[in-house]
Amino acid sequence: MTAAVQFSHVTKRYGATTALDRVSLEVRAGEMFGLIGSDGAGKTTAIRVMCGLLRPDAGEVRVLGRDPVREHRQTTERVGYLSQRFSLYGDLTVDENVAFFAEVHGLRRYRERRDQLLEMTQLAPFRRRLADRLSGGMKQKLALVCTLVHEPELLLLDEPTTGVDPVSRREFWKLLSEFLSHGITILMSTPYLDEAERCTRVALLHEGRLLASDDPSLLRAARPGSPSLEDVFISLLATKDVAS
Ligand SMILES: Nc1ncnc2c1ncn2[C@@H]1O[C@H](COP(=O)(O)OP(=O)(O)OP(=O)(O)O)[C@@H](O)[C@H]1O
Ligand SMILES: [Mg+2]
Repeated sequence: MTAAVQFSHVTKRYGATTALDRVSLEVRAGEMFGLIGSDGAGKTTAIRVMCGLLRPDAGEVRVLGRDPVREHRQTTERVGYLSQRFSLYGDLTVDENVAFFAEVHGLRRYRERRDQLLEMTQLAPFRRRLADRLSGGMKQKLALVCTLVHEPELLLLDEPTTGVDPVSRREFWKLLSEFLSHGITILMSTPYLDEAERCTRVALLHEGRLLASDDPSLLRAARPGSPSLEDVFISLLATKDVAS
């Protein structure tokens, strides 16, 4: 089966900063993949490369079997991207926000899809409410609806739960599981290691370098004495410091 995302030795620099340093990773179809790393690790850069918004300086990228820069339109039609600083139109209602994103994707018939997504996310009772008047968790769910309206096969979510309260975070994860069960592939970035534990596989990034990529339980098993993913991360960082 074709990988949903394939990075082979991808490098991306901004002037003197190397945001991604020969990163290779693979996101398999149907999985929940976590891109884990603290500030400046390169998460946003990696996701923007996957969206074809940034051209890597070196290496190869394939998203749903295509080059996301050269075949941008064909790729983005099948991808839903929730950017880190995504913002809704606060002076538009829930319904109007969804309509706006549907139109951006050139969709004419989206009402059935919209209604289904608003039901799933329990936003249906609030469809006439202005986005500015929604709670933080509800805003994030609406953002997810806007990302899904064009029925993408692959979702790229950049820190969708950062700053969201714990209850809303749990609810957001439940929704993600539901979308996964419908066959969507999800890649999300997060600084939270408890979220990383819930992914089928993760990539641990630090300062543009890939420290490891695997199933979280296998990463733990490979390092006896590392009971949590946080311990694994710390131990990998220590090894890296010795190596560099
Ligand atoms: N447009 C830019 N110009 C110059 N440097 C940049 C630019 N965007 C990112 N960087 C640098 O590249 C590195 C990786 O940044 P990136 O935003 O990809 O990390 P991140 O993991 O998403 O961080 P955060 O958790 O803060 O969102 C950082 O050192 C950052 O300062
Ligand atoms: Mg970021």
